[in-house]
Amino acid sequence: MNTWLLQQEGFNKTNAAVDGSRFLCSNGYLGLRGMPEEAASGLFPAITLAGVYDQFADRWREPVNAPNCLYIQASLDGRSLSMEEAQGHCAKLDYRHGIYSRETRFGQACISSRRFVSMASPHLLADEYRITFLKAGVVTLKAGISTDIWDINGPHLFNFQHRTGDVLVTACLTGQKKIAVAAAQCVQTDFDAEESQSEDAAGVFRTIKKTVQAGETLTLRVFSGVYTSLDTSDPAQAALVCSQQARAAGFSACLQAHTGAWEEIWTRSEIALEGDDDAALALHASQYHLNCVAPRHARNMSIPARGLSGQTYKGAIFWDSEVFFFPMFVYTQPEIAKSLLHYRVETLQGALKKAAEYGFRGAFYAWESQEGGEEGCTNFNVVDVFTHRPVRTYFRDKQIHISADIAYALRNYYDITGDRTLLKDGGAKAILECARFYLSRANAHLDSDMVDFADVIGPDEYHERITNNAFTNQMIRHTLESALLLKEIFADQQAWFAELLQEMDYEQDWALLSDLYCRIRPPRERDGVMEQFDGYFDLEDCTLSDVRGRLCDPREYWGGDHGVAGTTQIIKQADVIALMAMLPERFTDEQVAANWAYYEPRTEHGSSLSACMYALTACRIGRLEEAWTLFMKTARIDVLGGGKQWAGEIYIGGTHPASNGGAWMIAALGFAGLQMRGGKLSIHPRLPRQITRLSFPVTAAGKNYRIEVTHAGGTITGL
Ligand code: BGC
Repeated sequence: MNTWLLQQEGFNKTNAAVDGSRFLCSNGYLGLRGMPEEAASGLFPAITLAGVYDQFADRWREPVNAPNCLYIQASLDGRSLSMEEAQGHCAKLDYRHGIYSRETRFGQACISSRRFVSMASPHLLADEYRITFLKAGVVTLKAGISTDIWDINGPHLFNFQHRTGDVLVTACLTGQKKIAVAAAQCVQTDFDAEESQSEDAAGVFRTIKKTVQAGETLTLRVFSGVYTSLDTSDPAQAALVCSQQARAAGFSACLQAHTGAWEEIWTRSEIALEGDDDAALALHASQYHLNCVAPRHARNMSIPARGLSGQTYKGAIFWDSEVFFFPMFVYTQPEIAKSLLHYRVETLQGALKKAAEYGFRGAFYAWESQEGGEEGCTNFNVVDVFTHRPVRTYFRDKQIHISADIAYALRNYYDITGDRTLLKDGGAKAILECARFYLSRANAHLDSDMVDFADVIGPDEYHERITNNAFTNQMIRHTLESALLLKEIFADQQAWFAELLQEMDYEQDWALLSDLYCRIRPPRERDGVMEQFDGYFDLEDCTLSDVRGRLCDPREYWGGDHGVAGTTQIIKQADVIALMAMLPERFTDEQVAANWAYYEPRTEHGSSLSACMYALTACRIGRLEEAWTLFMKTARIDVLGGGKQWAGEIYIGGTHPASNGGAWMIAALGFAGLQMRGGKLSIHPRLPRQITRLSFPVTAAGKNYRIEVTHAGGTITGL
């Protein structure tokens, strides 16, 4: 079995949304959904641009999809070869080299193509398209830049201007910020043919017409460039030059540069798993999907919750980045981990503004962060399936753990890399502002020394506006501790640190940090089980299937005021267990075991962020069969096209980078038991019986290592 290949026979239009994500090609600058070249917007093709957002009318702000510059439609004797008429279809995605290919059989011809989004050159897309004729006739190939763009809350592009010529160019502007977006396309053919060009509302195209014989094959190589005015002052020209230069270099040379870049990525990050090919494939798939959306072209960008597979979740950055994506990167490609955190450091202003809007001090980061740290999360984030009315949700206002998650990653970055520059360049300031936010958000009482955090939402979003979420409170303590620790980290630069505090007007707040740290109310416990929030144990204790049985519509939202889960102990995702996975040293094995046994049966795993947290903790307490099952669930999500597609009436499909990162975490931190503590790298192998060997590279404190784990034990070898 080829553990690097996703292959699918047949074409099912109703699966197009899911398949486009499963077969995604991306390089962090843009994401190209895996649909055939001729796919019209009904099949959800898209080239989603990282970090370019737009709002149309009063709809949700979301990332912009570029014009479809790999569009090709073949016709034979005037009849279009459309996917509806395909007699056979096979799509493949080579995870190792990020190459999508397809072979589609029609009655009269067969189309095969392979394409990639260059990992070596972020603005370049290239496609090699071959068509073989089974009978003689006149073929037309309409190749160009289509403006038939799939948007969820669009349209976002206006003022289209097309240019014909050797290179076709489309330039346009986003509606809200007038960001110029340009795509260019040029081709290379291995045959002579008549060519005409046209432009209309649907785009700009060249039409190649030729009389062909049965058995003849035509090859068209397409080179496209995409730029925006965020990259350069003349994106149309840059896109044109990019496509022309690629053509001059040739398809093979571009492909070679691209595959070489992928080889480099795998050298630095591949976890080789032996013993179970399905698992090896799933792990490659997970690592592919997370690696391909990493912002390698930037130094201050993060990754949206659905990667670059489309506009779901408004293309926004969630806590997913710090808690689920960050670990693989910090241990394999720390410069990417740094970029994710630079994004937070540079969007601190947005977090200060958000805190102030709610009447607090310090940094309250956006729950769904867009460019500049702008909050993309609306007050109405779900649509009720019965009334079709927007439901007031409180993720934006109450999920205050977001700031603690960011502070947690900033500290982990330092602990794992030993690199202080990020803290020095604004990271320390961000941690201090997060801590300040919690000082001002705390609820103190006149008749008690204890401090509560009331009216919050923890990771389990089904229970809104609760008090003393154990996860949130403990993560806040961790933030306060990290803030205090900064003084030690910069012990040799006391003057600089004192100046920072002064500049931030922080002297008084500094004195309060340890005070708050000691006063935060600890969670209630029952039989060693930590109560998820005040009053959780008093909620109806029923089963998951009881709650599921109460649904009147499968798309119904389980949370919010009227949700079926809200009055029960059924939770959406790991919450207490997420805490135990993230801060393992704070809990004993017995505590983890008791909480796991209690919470797992009560968890819907309704978020793709859940299973990996349970798997990680399952490894620790020796529940290896369960860890294995949860690992497979996590790692296979984008192989199989799993995960929820709907929250109420809102489409939430796409790839699942949090699960992708979760799969790396389970394998490396769970099965191999990798950890970096006190500047020391160690492993504690606990392989499930299905795996015979794990081998992977790791970077820690600026040094490279290889970890090898079998049932006989493990080794860490310095490289
Ligand atoms: C989860 C959040 C997560 C978001 C984006 C939601 O369904 O509950 O924890 O951050 O999806 O992945």
